[in-house]
Amino acid sequence: MDARPIGVFDSGMGGLTVLHECLVTLPHEDFVYLGDGARLPYGPRPLPELVRFSREIAAYLAEQDVKLIVAACNSATSAALPQLQEELEIPVVGVITPEAHAAVQATRNRRVGLLATEATVASGRYAELVHALDAGVRFFSIACPRLVPLIESDVPFGAATVDAVREYAAPLKEAGVDTVILGCTHYPLIRPIFQRVFGRDVTLVFSAEETAREVAQTLARKGFENEKGREGSYRFLTTGDPDVFRALGERFLQLPLSSVEHVGLTELERAAA
Ligand code: DGL
Repeated sequence: MDARPIGVFDSGMGGLTVLHECLVTLPHEDFVYLGDGARLPYGPRPLPELVRFSREIAAYLAEQDVKLIVAACNSATSAALPQLQEELEIPVVGVITPEAHAAVQATRNRRVGLLATEATVASGRYAELVHALDAGVRFFSIACPRLVPLIESDVPFGAATVDAVREYAAPLKEAGVDTVILGCTHYPLIRPIFQRVFGRDVTLVFSAEETAREVAQTLARKGFENEKGREGSYRFLTTGDPDVFRALGERFLQLPLSSVEHVGLTELERAAA
């Protein structure tokens, strides 16, 4: 038995969709979530900068004595997962491998699409992982810079979001993909828009469920699980404004948010120094 909490991080709110699935799959575990609101969005940033941010956050979470870290951000996972795994003693689970697996298993015509941030597309990590599992898959990736700001805005379900999704989906429909990886943890929030634009014949792969499954299996196989039957707790840290986090956070988590604490960027920098 291991009573330490699990650390989860993202640039902002998107990782809460992963936390939600983890809370449902692992109700007996404790979680601490860190959203890097002060430096959102990660998508347009260069990969070396995302490596630095991810290392700072992971070092800070490790100081909070977490037993496993979930990089609940596709951009951070694409940029930094190998470095985090090399540097930390505890396991680090990213959101890309579980989705790549699920997509290769799901596709029937072996044409797979990816919608993600610019950083995730630029890293080429999904294409590598998909081809490591099935070298014969045709892979098509599209960067979607407008989606994260729209999803974090006051009108996530407005016409501008529908138009953007239509525009980004068009080349994938043209390519005849039967499976689309939604490679950004913000995207589940607008799931109905993706489902309507792509229709029933296209399988949509989201990271949240796949990642929660991977976290549960990792804890079980390593013997790191907390006592079953208890109800776990969850708490929130943000580098941004705690009031903004609380207001938007409930929309993403679909559960009540209790206290939200502020963490300064200097504290993160110190942890990694
Ligand atoms: N939710 C994150 C991701 O999965 C980051 C989005 C952003 O900050 O641009 O990529």
